[in-house]
Amino acid sequence: MDCKGDYRLEMLQINNLTKIFGRKNIALDNLSLTIQKGEVFGLLGPNGAGKTTLIRLLIGLIKPTSGTAKISYNGEYYDIHEDIMKIRERASMLPQEAQVYEQLTARENILYYGQIYGNMTDEEVKNRTEELIDLIGLRGRENDLCKEFSGGMKRKVLVARALVMDPDLVFLDEPTTGIDILGARTVRNIIKKLAKDMHKTIILTTHDLSEVGELCDRVGILVKGKLAAVGTPVELEEKFQKAGLEDVFIGLTTGEGVIEEDFLKQKKKQSLFSRILKRR
Ligand SMILES: Nc1ncnc2c1ncn2[C@@H]1O[C@H](COP(=O)(O)OP(=O)(O)O)[C@@H](O)[C@H]1O
Ligand SMILES: [Mg+2]
Repeated sequence: MDCKGDYRLEMLQINNLTKIFGRKNIALDNLSLTIQKGEVFGLLGPNGAGKTTLIRLLIGLIKPTSGTAKISYNGEYYDIHEDIMKIRERASMLPQEAQVYEQLTARENILYYGQIYGNMTDEEVKNRTEELIDLIGLRGRENDLCKEFSGGMKRKVLVARALVMDPDLVFLDEPTTGIDILGARTVRNIIKKLAKDMHKTIILTTHDLSEVGELCDRVGILVKGKLAAVGTPVELEEKFQKAGLEDVFIGLTTGEGVIEEDFLKQKKKQSLFSRILKRR
């Protein structure tokens, strides 16, 4: 831990984070990024871009090859190398492949997680579980076994489980992938509530571009382990002169401008050409 007392609004500072799997699979390539407290940050990128790897590094499930990240709580910074247990007290993750315990009820699934992972008394876990059952809209079904639930209902239970220890920072890895339209909308509404009413900092990955526009304050587009662009959806459209985020995404991921500097260089070249052509 360092920077004691140096309170700023940053929640997360990622500095030159690199993760190489095996000898040469560079999943994350020297990534730096700052995320503000209360921000909803969307990570976009094609499959294999490194989104899950980034989240797993930040919550300490894997170790970086180099670089670091610090998470700030109440004016103190905690480093992923040294203070991962402290980080886990205030940050939680909904993994991409998470599964509910089918043989437990919705309530038991949430309670169980609170008892294992939280730093709370049994009474606090119980109260928190009841709040979350209301938040996810499963009141009335809380005593039913999860094996009887639809995919969307299970996902809601998983979201609740990730929130039971009342984290400041929440990582949601593809929270709406693979569930129906209604289930996805409920999960999006929960995320909005978390951000707006509960002032959580949320980092989510998604393939749904309309979701990004609806939920995210800022977006980072990850391509081959590098951040190709960061900004608000509107800023990115303006910067890359595209009509929508989908065009920005496709442009950046198909090689029309793989990283920002390349894109700008390309633009400069183009304007040079057009000037030469105009002179003729
Ligand atoms: N545990 C692992 N062992 C080896 N390679 C991995 C592991 N996890 C991820 N990778 C590799 O890292 C890259 C990024 O993967 P991932 O972070 O899962 O991408 P995304 O979540 O953006 O789809 C891929 O090339 C993937 O094969
Ligand atoms: Mg992933």
